[in-house]
Amino acid sequence: MVDTALRGQGSPRRRNRFTRTRHLDGRVNEDIDTIFEVNRRFWDASTPSKMEVGSYPLGSFREGMSTLFEHEHDELGDVMGKTVLHLQCNNGLETLSLAREGADVVGVDISDESLRYARELAAETGIEAEFLRCNVYDVPAVLNREFDVVYTSRGVLVWLPDLADWADIIAHSLTEGGRFYLFEGHPIADVYNDDGEMDGSYFDSCPRRYEEAGFGVDQEHYLTQHTLGGVVSALVSSGLQIEFVHEFPFAYWRQWDGMVEDERGRWRVPGDPIPLTFSIRAVNPET
Ligand SMILES: C[S@@+](CC[C@H](N)C(=O)[O-])C[C@H]1O[C@@H](n2cnc3c(N)ncnc32)[C@H](O)[C@@H]1O
Repeated sequence: MVDTALRGQGSPRRRNRFTRTRHLDGRVNEDIDTIFEVNRRFWDASTPSKMEVGSYPLGSFREGMSTLFEHEHDELGDVMGKTVLHLQCNNGLETLSLAREGADVVGVDISDESLRYARELAAETGIEAEFLRCNVYDVPAVLNREFDVVYTSRGVLVWLPDLADWADIIAHSLTEGGRFYLFEGHPIADVYNDDGEMDGSYFDSCPRRYEEAGFGVDQEHYLTQHTLGGVVSALVSSGLQIEFVHEFPFAYWRQWDGMVEDERGRWRVPGDPIPLTFSIRAVNPET
């Protein structure tokens, strides 16, 4: 049973197409609200663990630094005076970094625990930002506002079973001429397991159930893999105009043994053999 407070009044845009998930050993039936609820519980449990084990650059953030990478700043452009919607903001580090640069930011996330950290960090640093517990798919129903920028980054897409609705919601949330920016793990990197061996298909977009997670949390959750082409096509179908798609040979986390951290805190496989992250910027065209 899903918490209705989580989903506001419910979005008319939700298509509710995904009703089945596949598990390694056979078929299990789950409805999409169960997937969201299970994933919300996962993040409520794992964000405190991630904060405790030092997964985030809290020290440098507290010293006044931004947690966005340099290339994100360059690609996103100046946010001073702009209204920004940050989707899947987690503990709010990027939300507050954008606010520190003069943006008027709303951070949205499904997890209360994640938002608790975000609000605590805002209070501690005196940075103003609004945080809202909301499923991405319910943003039009709950917020119903237009923003100059929609930003989302680092491990967001695997939690979303439906990219068509996601892209429509982004387009719906942007002013005319407003920009969308995504910096994300590259889906080809997800085809390799923790030992760096190929495991599964790049093209398998069926939500998958996992029993354990890392971060010291043993909690089931569902992940959906999306191809890069699927991400681009969803954005194009929503009416957004893609300005660029960039692929990078570095990751924002140490995915495999043998990776080397570069001088900017990014993790690389020696020789840079495959893309590990990508970014997309798109504009909502003026009519
Ligand atoms: C990997 S984090 C996002 C990146 C963040 N900057 C970080 O490094 O932790 C993924 C976030 O997505 C949120 N999330 C998952 N499914 C969601 C949904 N359907 N609607 C809104 N937030 C969701 C989780 O609660 C979590 O905070």
